[in-house]
Amino acid sequence: MLLAYDDEGPGRVVVLLHGFPLDRTMWEYQTTTLGSLYRVIAPDLRGHGETAAPEGIYPIEDMAEDVIELLDALKIAEPIVLGGLSMGGYVALAIAVKHPKRLRGLMLMDTRAGADSFEASQGREALARRVEAEGSAEPAVSAMLPRLFSEWSRQNRADIVARVHERMLRTPARAVAGALRGMAARPDRTGDLGRIAVPTLVLVGADDALTPPSEAKAMAEAIPNARLVEIPDAGHLAPLENPTAANAAILKFLESLA
Ligand code: MLT
Repeated sequence: MLLAYDDEGPGRVVVLLHGFPLDRTMWEYQTTTLGSLYRVIAPDLRGHGETAAPEGIYPIEDMAEDVIELLDALKIAEPIVLGGLSMGGYVALAIAVKHPKRLRGLMLMDTRAGADSFEASQGREALARRVEAEGSAEPAVSAMLPRLFSEWSRQNRADIVARVHERMLRTPARAVAGALRGMAARPDRTGDLGRIAVPTLVLVGADDALTPPSEAKAMAEAIPNARLVEIPDAGHLAPLENPTAANAAILKFLESLA
């Protein structure tokens, strides 16, 4: 399906996939900084931001095909660097597994390779039903928000916390439910990590409570050519909470691919 997107800057292509239930504006600090050196493309995944929100489940594999469709529509045949945060990381991993030739580098941020536990997928289904019953993203947002940010961000970046809260609430209920069910059904990709051949940056907020540094470390150890960077003073939205440190790590990684 057709995705809304930003496409800015010259040079080699870097694609950034946002988390749930956010949109492409979460990359504001990356598009400005990386955009002077790279062509940064940030789509809104299905149901999020300005992209249409169909009814039904949003399988991660379908979200991955949406991104491939966008690359094809933009006639981007060269291998890209693909980055994804959390749900965007699930989508990035699906692309790395299904379309390895489209990549020359991978950035997995505040995400995990494993599938949901039975309890976690049941919890998502219950949440999807509440979201549908209330016709609003609110139940999902209030479940997530308290665990999203580092203590530092909560104390010092009330502006970011408020902005993220407001953007999450804008996501239509059917998209929140569709993405929750899609994430619940995603496969375990742990066994695929050893086959990722491209250089990979695994980036994680030191205080990420949702996808903690221990999981990021295990993921980096399982990918043959991966490096792990922990971002201080950041939780689950590291590139937004500490853009200076995150951008330094990302730029260093991109330079190493040149
Ligand atoms: C996200 O930030 O995209 C979500 O935490 C992903 C998830 O719920 O698994």
